[in-house]
Order: sequence, then structure tokens, then C-alpha cells
Amino acid sequence: MTILVTGGAGFIGSNFVLDWLAGSNETVVNLDVLTYAGNRQNLVSLTGDARHVFVQGDIGDTTLVTHLLNTHQPRAILNFAAESHVDRSILGPSEFIKTNVVGTFNLLEATRAYWGNLPDDQKAAFRFLHVSTDEVYGSLSPDAPAFTEEHPYEPNSPYSASKAASDHLVRAYHHTYGMPVLTTNCSNNYGPYHFPEKLIPLVIHNALAGKPLPIYGDGSQVRDWLYVSDHCSAIRTVLANGKVGETYNVGGWNEKRNLEVVKTLCALLDELSPRADGQSYASQITFVRDRPGHDQRYAIDARKLERELGWKPQETFETGIRKTVQWYLANQAWVANITSGQYRQWVDTQYT
Ligand code: NAD
Ligand code: TYD
Repeated sequence: MTILVTGGAGFIGSNFVLDWLAGSNETVVNLDVLTYAGNRQNLVSLTGDARHVFVQGDIGDTTLVTHLLNTHQPRAILNFAAESHVDRSILGPSEFIKTNVVGTFNLLEATRAYWGNLPDDQKAAFRFLHVSTDEVYGSLSPDAPAFTEEHPYEPNSPYSASKAASDHLVRAYHHTYGMPVLTTNCSNNYGPYHFPEKLIPLVIHNALAGKPLPIYGDGSQVRDWLYVSDHCSAIRTVLANGKVGETYNVGGWNEKRNLEVVKTLCALLDELSPRADGQSYASQITFVRDRPGHDQRYAIDARKLERELGWKPQETFETGIRKTVQWYLANQAWVANITSGQYRQWVDTQYT
């Protein structure tokens, strides 16, 4: 048996592939175009492992995807591939439309052709699992209940709008063509291999480098944080037991204000890797201009996934954030490779 994972060299995708192969012998074909966010070093522990087949390519390349589907005959496709950074989507939205909307559409079309030709039993067992975000629901007021699966879509950034468009396409392929799709909408992830442009890894990196820790606006915005391996286990659960055509919200009930997250990181670093001058890393906190259209609050209600499929997260925010800081302290070479651009050269040397 084989699964096709797209975007498996990125943050969540690589965690998923590593977790999957730690618990299963089912082959993973990993299709990733290796944008700036794709890093094959995340998967270096799988070098020489025949269960992992890496293919550098675009989800929007119908010829390539069709070839991969016909060659490897996967029983499922898990679509992680996306442009994922809100700030980048504000500076340059077109890549987000290209991959998240058109790329997903092309992937769905290639999948529809492949799936349509499968024998009946394989056709029924096949799954297309689309990995999406809570950001499609827009922003919550401070006292509003957390997002359920029934919450209307109100995306506010080019990133969330492009993910919302892809979710709608996935939904339509089930409704119109009967394709057996599943969609997960997860809250903010954190953990190992998180690219240091996002809040948590950026703050850890900047703190250790003696740089300012930029807080957008007043830092009062709320995000709902989930340790990445809990997201991976939720995806495995939905793939195994999710009801075709349904969407599942994924989150761990960990709402935190940005300023609180940054202060927690500073306190952990003060404990685990204190500054030479004895001062707290919190002295590096710097308030900067707010992100345009900044969503104030996200919060996920994951009770459907818990109730119907029995999923529960393993980590609290306190255990997960400590593990994350420890991972970054132990893997500073990984961060240095990214910030220096070395990881790109490493890919060239290693794989071409
Ligand atoms: P990421 O940016 O770290 O990784 C994305 C990966 O996709 C990279 O390896 C990149 O090379 C690859 N990719 C980009 N365009 C591609 C294309 N056209 N063809 C093939 N590969 C391509 O993102 P992430 O944080 O790992 O997010 C993965 C998925 O999970 C995304 O769909 C994102 O919307 C969703 N998500 C992320 C979060 C989060 O907090 N990071 C939360 C919920 C959902
Ligand atoms: P981010 O990690 O970019 O995730 P998202 O925008 O998808 O939620 O940002 C998390 C929160 O942290 C968000 O409210 C923006 C804020 N933020 C900062 O305050 N400073 C920063 O340097 C970054 C990157 C984000």
C-alpha cells in the first residue's frame, strides 16, 4: 500500500512523513516542489529508506501528478502543499493563488481521472485528504465561541482566502463527482522543523541571536496553538476513520495572546540557555507596526473530532512549548542552515 503526500518537505508535511514511517511500513511518495519553505534536511533521517520516495515537483503539474498516480497507485492523497505564510501573502499574493488555488485544482483534476479508473473496491476505499487551516473562518471577537465546522467562511488575508478557495474546490469535487474527500481545518501549529519566519521559531532564533523580538501591534492577538505531532495524529485519525465529505476542526484548546507566547518563550530560554549578561530575553521584546488586516483571534472547537473519531491531543501548551524550545536549542545548526541559505546549497550538493 502507498500514500501520496504533497508538501512533505515543509514543516507539517515533514513531521507527518516522519511520524507516519515511525508507525507504519506503508510507502510514502512525497511530492514537493521545494519552495523556500521546503527543506530536504527535515527528512535526512530517511536517506536510503525505500519506504520514502521523494519527487521534486509541483502539485499543479498535471502530467507529473498523473504519472505518479499511475506508477505508484496510492490508496490516498494527503495535500499539505501550499504557500503558508500570511505576511508573504500580503507582500505577494500571486504565488498563493498559483499553488493554493490553481495547484489544488490541478491536483484534484488529476486525482479525479485516476480515481475514476480504479476498480470499484479501490475506488470506494480511496481518500483525498485536504489539509487546511482555521484561518478560513476569519477573526473572532474576544468572547465569541470557538469555530465549529458550521462557522461561515470569512477569510481576511490573501493566504486564508486562497485556502478557503481550495477548501471549496475540494468540497465541490465530493458533491459533484462523488470523490471521497476529507478536509481538516487546524489551528496554529508549532514544533520541530518550523520555518523561522513564523512567530515561535522566529522569536527563539532572534532571542539567541541577540536580535529584537518583533511583536506586531500590541501583541493582544490570540492564536490557538497545537503541537505539530498532535496535528499529525489527527490527520491519521481522519484518514483512517473520517466520514467521506466531512470536515474536521483540529485544535487543542490552547488560546494564547501573542505577547504571552513570546514571554513564555523568553522565560524558557532564560532557564535553558540564559543570556551571558544575566538579563532576561524579554528585554529584547520590541513592538513593531501591526500586520495589515491582522486577525484578532482564532480559536478551534475540536469536539466533533474528539466525539466522533476519539482523537485527543497528547501535549498541553506547556509541555509542547518546552519540547519545542529544547528542540531548537539542540538543533541550532538546522536553523543556521536556513538563515544562511545553506540548506539550498546542501540540496544541490546532495541531490543533483
Ligand atoms: P510550509 O510552508 O512549511 O510547507 C509547505 C510545503 O509545500 C513546502 O515544503 C513547499 O516546498 C511545498 N510546496 C509549496 N508549493 C508547492 C507546489 N506548488 N507543489 C508542491 N509542493 C509545494 O507549510 P506548513 O506550515 O507545513 O503547512 C502545511 C499545510 O498545512 C498547508 O496547507 C497549510 O495551509 C496547512 N496548515 C498550516 C498550519 C500552520 O500553523 N503552519 C495550520 C493549519 C494548517
Ligand atoms: P504567524 O506565525 O505568522 O502565524 P499566523 O499569522 O498564520 O497566525 O503569526 C502568529 C501570530 O504572531 C500572528 O498574530 C502574527 C504575530 N506575529 C508577530 O507578532 N510578530 C512576528 O514577527 C510574526 C512573524 C508574527
